[in-house]
Parts: sequence; C-alpha cells; structure tokens
Amino acid sequence: MRKKVTVVGAGNVGATVAQRVFDKGYADVVLVDIIEGLPQGKALDMLESGPVLGTDAKVVGSNGYDETANSDVVVITSGIARKPGMSRDDLLLTNMKIVTSVVTEVAKRSPNSVLLPVTNPLDAMAQRAFQVSKFPKNRVVGMAGILDTARFRTFLAQELKVSVEVVSAWVLGGHGDTMVPVVGSTNVGGVPVAKLIPKARLDEIVKRTQNGGAEIVNLLKTGSAYYAPSAAVVQMVESILLDKKQILPCTVYLEGEYGIKGLFVGVPVKLGAGGVDQVIQFDLTSEESAALQKSAAAVAELVEVMKKAG
Ligand code: APR
Repeated sequence: MRKKVTVVGAGNVGATVAQRVFDKGYADVVLVDIIEGLPQGKALDMLESGPVLGTDAKVVGSNGYDETANSDVVVITSGIARKPGMSRDDLLLTNMKIVTSVVTEVAKRSPNSVLLPVTNPLDAMAQRAFQVSKFPKNRVVGMAGILDTARFRTFLAQELKVSVEVVSAWVLGGHGDTMVPVVGSTNVGGVPVAKLIPKARLDEIVKRTQNGGAEIVNLLKTGSAYYAPSAAVVQMVESILLDKKQILPCTVYLEGEYGIKGLFVGVPVKLGAGGVDQVIQFDLTSEESAALQKSAAAVAELVEVMKKAG
C-alpha cells in the first residue's frame, strides 16, 4: 500500500507541495481547503497529469477531513500569507486560530502521523501544533531551515560561480529576521566559506538570506514564496516516508539542546520514519551561539503573545 500524505491549504504552497509529492508517485495525496471546489479542482487536474507523468498515485481534494484518516504525514500550509510591508509576525493571531482548528481535526483522524507545519510565523505555529495535537515532540517538525539554507546556498553558489550542490551550509534559529546563517559550518567543496569570500561581502549575502522571504514578497506583491518552500517540504516528507535519515535544519521542540528549553527553534536534526530521530549538536562560535539565543528569544515573545490570546 502506498503511503498517505495530507496537505492542508490548497493555496500556493499547499498545492505545489501536493503536486511535487504526487509527481514522485510514492504516496497518495489528500488536499484540504475551506474554499469550496478549490482542492477538488486542483486535485483532479493533478490526477489527470498522471498518465502523462507515469504516476499511478491517487490525489483527492476535500473541504473536510474524513479522507485524511490514517495519513503518514500531514503538511499544514493553511493560513494567510504576507503582503508587502508585513512581517511574518503580523500573521500570528489569524494563523494561530487556523492552525488550532486544523490540527484538532487532523490529529483526531491521523493520531500516528508526523505533522509538518509550514504556516507562518513558523516557529510559533509549530509550537501551537505541538500543544494542540499533544503528539510526542518527535512527530511535530516545522519547515523553515531547509528553505533559509537553500536561499543561502543559492546566493553563495551565484557568488562563487559553482554548483549549488557543492555548497554545504546551515541556517539555524527562528524563521525570521533573527535567523542565524552559521558561517562557521558553511563550506564550498570542503573549503570554509570565510576563506573564499571577504567578510564585508559575506555579511551582505547573510543579510540577503535573512531578508530572502521579503525579497520575494516585494516582487510578487500579492503573496509570498512557494516554489522553494514546497521543495523544502518535500525533502522533509521524503526523508520521513523513505526513512532516509537525512540531517536537515528543521524547527523542533528543544529541551535543553543548544541551551534552549521549551521552545520550537530551527536546529539540525536527523529525520526518519518516526519523525525526528535525533537533534544534532553543532559546535557554534560564541557569536553564533549568542545569535541563536537572540533568535530563540524572538520566538519566545511570539509564544507569549499567543498564550495571552488564549
Ligand atoms: N482550513 C483549511 N484551509 C484554510 C483555512 C482553514 N481553516 N484557512 C485558510 N485556508 C486556506 C486558504 O483558503 C488558502 O487556499 O489556506 C490557503 C493558503 O494559501 P495562500 O493564500 O496561497 O498562501 P500560501 O502562499 O500557500 O502560504 C500559506 O505558508 O509559507 C507560509 O507564510 C505562508 O502562512 C502562509 C502559508
């Protein structure tokens, strides 16, 4: 039997995730949205691409949750996206309500699934999904770090005129302006990046990475990024469904690792069949460590606002 992936939210990110998973052919997909006809129409359109792509997987759309029962992975993209001038944090209270109701529905029907929140502000939404689902911490894994790292790798490869594949980089911390591109652990073909790019230029690339989401929002004007985010989600889905045990930067619940307690923050983790197998501990410089603490403090502030809102 094929694995089953539910994607909640049939907008830009959700529909592109569904398409990418369907195209691979190893999992059936259920696409859920509140807008009548939208998930059904997109799912049917995708299904009809199967004969051309050589995919026998099934994809269905729904405005309810019964079809999602016994999913292996549930990707949560429902919510509002940024417009120019908005920060991810401006989405907090609206998306908190949406994520709460969605997680309540999916957790009931797929109690053994791994939840992958994508909705922003990501770290706070992952925390919410964890609280509402009451799932063990290894089965709630937020998507942000792979995307932020992919942006960093893209810019570094452009700068050095090398393949993106030879750029090994890490961006940790919260998915916001305080994210931490870990320059000390970034290398190109095994050579530390700090030896290849002068500090002033490297600082500019780090800044561009931190503002990577806003750069896209300002170009699109009507929404936010979805090609790179959906590709990042699918890397996580694949590591889980195929039990690949890849080591990837993901947003997980920390209980003392990196000196952070009781919060969802982006760190390197080993991702396999049951979700998070292990948090990987990197050696950080004191500067990187301080930046990670600052980023965690920014996440804690949002969690506090959510607590007050109920
Ligand atoms: N249940 C199901 N779907 C919902 C709900 C809900 N309660 N509320 C909203 N949605 C759906 C919307 O109808 C819409 O189709 O979520 C979808 C969101 O799609 P887009 O507006 O295209 O947003 P997208 O670009 O996909 O981003 C979704 O991911 O990256 C983050 O910041 C981004 O928080 C945003 C989320």
